Amino acid sequence: MTIARILTVACVLLMFSPAAFAGEEGAAEGPTLYERMGGWDGVDKIVADTIALHLENDEIVDILDGIDLEKLHANVTAFFAAGTGGPNKYEGRDMTTAHAPLGLTEADFDAAVSDVLKAVNMNVEDEAVAGEVNAILQSLRPAVMGTSEDTTGY
Ligand code: HEM
Repeated sequence: MTIARILTVACVLLMFSPAAFAGEEGAAEGPTLYERMGGWDGVDKIVADTIALHLENDEIVDILDGIDLEKLHANVTAFFAAGTGGPNKYEGRDMTTAHAPLGLTEADFDAAVSDVLKAVNMNVEDEAVAGEVNAILQSLRPAVMGTSEDTTGY
């Protein structure tokens, strides 16, 4: 393996680390993912569109029965913003605790991610953004599904 290849692999691994999600030092220079999604208003709109898509998604709609959608909107917006470089703090529950009572399946998870990516593409012209959001969501899969210790702090 050449040095260039080793460095490439190392960079890809770093991109998928929790530190990248938490927006810690070491991220590439330039606008944050939060800024590229349009800042607070952009993230807020993406979350609103995601929830609207969930309500039309047969795989997910029943899980949202009885859930306070305004609170969900507020918490998910804060989580998404804080995790992509926004200035706010997320003060909601960690991912394992919040999702444990829902009994989610992997298919539920995939359906939810698909709605998020659709909502991103509805709102953001830069097509690279959805790929980066997908990488973050996939990195959170074990925490949301409760299949591993939540090491992200979320
Ligand atoms: C990477 C994927 C996911 C992320 C980042 C995420 C994020 C969040 C956040 C931040 C909250 C708020 C926590 C709180 O109430 O304190 C939440 C709650 C919730 N999530 Fe997710 N979620 C994900 C996947 C899913 C999936 C696949 C479903 C099911 C379709 C789902 C359904 C819900 C529901 C119903 C709540 C509200 C729980 C309640 O109020 O008791 N989430 N999620």
